[in-house]
Amino acid sequence: MDNVLRHAAIIMDGNGRWAKQRGLPRTEGHKKGAEKVQIALETAREIGLQYLTLYAFSTENWNRPPEEVNALMELLVYFLDEKLPYLMKNNVRLLATGRIDQLPETAVKKLRFTEEKTAGNTSGTLILALNYGGRAEIVDAAKKLMRKTLDGAVKPEDLDEETFSRELYLPQVPPVDLMIRTGGEKRISNFLIWENAYAELYFTSVLWPDFGREEFLAAAEDFRHRGRRFGRVSETTDPEKL
Ligand code: IPE
Ligand code: IPE
Ligand code: MG
Repeated sequence: MDNVLRHAAIIMDGNGRWAKQRGLPRTEGHKKGAEKVQIALETAREIGLQYLTLYAFSTENWNRPPEEVNALMELLVYFLDEKLPYLMKNNVRLLATGRIDQLPETAVKKLRFTEEKTAGNTSGTLILALNYGGRAEIVDAAKKLMRKTLDGAVKPEDLDEETFSRELYLPQVPPVDLMIRTGGEKRISNFLIWENAYAELYFTSVLWPDFGREEFLAAAEDFRHRGRRFGRVSETTDPEKL
């Protein structure tokens, strides 16, 4: 039995280094990186992924120079405009995750517009993590629960993982099966802390602007050979997955 790959999440890292290697400004790396999302989307569809989450801007990325932050926000609006026809044509829904309301107003409006337009699309979901932090998401969920507790709607003794996870940003989205990080770093950088709890991790030194179909297929193939146990004893007879 092959592992079922429903939800892949990607930390799209290495844009800055890609640009630096070419003597270009970092923003050129981001442009090239944004262009590469198209191939990732097409490959996700090819391998039958239902959910693809892309880490586009972290809560920590505000600490970058304002010119770079502005360029990323402009790129986001451009990206959403440009991608809408593809999303509609291919029946793909777009969702955003993160503290979206703290993004610049034009970006918030464009995101909400694209989410509404694509809300009825059913053949796959593209999730953009923007102003996203895994710890922030958990804190925000805890806040919602504390309010519900004060209102008397939730009792502490009723809280379990299931009820907690219902307060996360996108409770309807299944946990991550495969988490890919490009750019060579081997860390999570505050990405989907809760949702990645049992994800298979795949790290590649390929910089995001160089990450294409072949690289994505290689990651998916690697995933197929992992023995996922979720804490149990292996029941497989496949020697690779024992
Ligand atoms: C990832 O590429 C894109 C964002 C964080 C928005 P980086 O900009 O982090 O690229 P490197 O890590 O500096 O090469
Ligand atoms: C993670 O990359 C965030 C995104 C890809 C959006 P970073 O480049 O910000 O992560 P660190 O700083 O290397 O951990
Ligand atoms: Mg980086």
